[in-house]
Amino acid sequence: MPYTDFPPFGGTSPMSLPEPTSTSVALVTGASSGIGSEIARLLAKRGFGLVLVARRKERLVALAEELGEQHGVRVETIAADLGKPTPRGKIPGRIEELGLEVEVLINNAGFATGGEPFHRADPERELEQVRLDVEAVVALTSAFLPAMVERGRGAILNVASTAGMQPMPYSAGYAAAKAYVLSFSEAIHQEVRRRGVTVTALAPGPVETEFWQIAGWETSTGKSFERAVPGAMISPEQAARAGVEGLENGERVVVPGLPIRAAMLASRYIPHALKLPALARFMKPN
Ligand SMILES: NC(=O)c1ccc[n+]([C@@H]2O[C@H](COP(=O)([O-])OP(=O)(O)OC[C@H]3O[C@@H](n4cnc5c(N)ncnc54)[C@H](OP(=O)(O)O)[C@@H]3O)[C@@H](O)[C@H]2O)c1
Repeated sequence: MPYTDFPPFGGTSPMSLPEPTSTSVALVTGASSGIGSEIARLLAKRGFGLVLVARRKERLVALAEELGEQHGVRVETIAADLGKPTPRGKIPGRIEELGLEVEVLINNAGFATGGEPFHRADPERELEQVRLDVEAVVALTSAFLPAMVERGRGAILNVASTAGMQPMPYSAGYAAAKAYVLSFSEAIHQEVRRRGVTVTALAPGPVETEFWQIAGWETSTGKSFERAVPGAMISPEQAARAGVEGLENGERVVVPGLPIRAAMLASRYIPHALKLPALARFMKPN
């Protein structure tokens, strides 16, 4: 069930994941680790050829070999910094050169700043976050959605976060970036749902990945964020499965894990005047 709606108002599209063909591929960003690697595994298992994108080439190549051997699918790798317009802009041309068409786009690459008030944040890192978590999602969607609509076949999964469901003091930039992804995805889901294309936002709570070492958030409890919310943490396999099944079911938004989904539903009814001070108390670094 999507996080915002109770049955019978759940947001779904009549479309699903298109059937794989010999020239169609799923492009997965951030496939070198965590949720992205697991989504790539699930799609390969379903017979999709893949284009894996991230900066760490050796990890992409290792995964490509694993998936090619296990599932007999074609897997290409593109090492690129998606936060930079020039390498990112070369991706559609490279895919055309390979004779492939992107029918499934997984915008997953991302990282989080935070763990401190914005006035102390590194301005360059904050901008890098907008370039990767927001700009790359917009750019790749612009690059591949028009052809999906023209063909009347396609699916896009944008990895947002429950962090995007409310402003988050001490992680202001990340929460705002994921709010963008969520709103962008929901609106486009509605625009194209009768044009043969489905768009799903996957909004996980804490997932056990390298994300946490990179984010390094410490809460007022003195614990790292993910340890301070016991019971909410899920595995990257669980997050990936929820995302791929969300695409198969044409869902608009997917929040994996019952505890976090219930918390997100309940928190919609708490006004910001109460929620923001409570979140600030929890998120304020020790
Ligand atoms: N883990 C969580 O608790 C959680 C919760 C909600 C949402 N999310 C979201 O889930 C997505 C995946 O995160 P994860 O948890 O799987 O974290 P992760 O294990 O750190 O994976 C992040 C992926 O993004 C790639 N990436 C980072 N910077 C990049 C860049 N500049 N250009 C290209 N690729 C880049 C990384 O590859 P390289 O370093 O090789 O480039 C890596 O493959 C992110 O959008 C994150 O915001 C995570």
